[in-house]
Amino acid sequence: MKKILAGAAVLMSFNAFAGGNIEAGKAAVQKFNCAACHGQDFNSPVDPSYPKLAGQHEDYLAHALIAYQRGADGANGRGNAIMGSQAKPLSHQNIQDIAAYLHSLPGSLVLRK
Ligand code: HEC
Repeated sequence: MKKILAGAAVLMSFNAFAGGNIEAGKAAVQKFNCAACHGQDFNSPVDPSYPKLAGQHEDYLAHALIAYQRGADGANGRGNAIMGSQAKPLSHQNIQDIAAYLHSLPGSLVLRK
């Protein structure tokens, strides 16, 4: 029974990523000034070592931001000094909305059918 409940919780949390709002995500990236490094179109970063984000899969983007919040010591965390501080102030809703917005932008990262 416990296992079934845990499975349901995982499914629900995946579904939550699909709940991002594109307009709210656009407002959030402006508020947090994400374009300063990732570029106005999120497809032309200011430094070639910074990743392109436009069009990237929504669940990947959300997962990456949560991983930066966890940091290198957290389970499935990412340790990066720059993005660690960028991700810190984001709420769970911010992350979902930002992921939805960035995914909606035209980019070359993901093949579209
Ligand atoms: C000061 C520059 C800077 C700012 C501002 C910035 N980023 Fe980043 N971002 C980076 C760098 C550098 C990396 C690569 C870090 C690494 O190697 O893990 C990165 C990585 C990412 C990734 C992971 C991409 C991938 O392919 O794995 C995401 C998602 C992301 N940033 C989103 C954001 C969002 C959303 C904001 C605004 C809240 C933001 N960034 C603000 C520099 C920045």
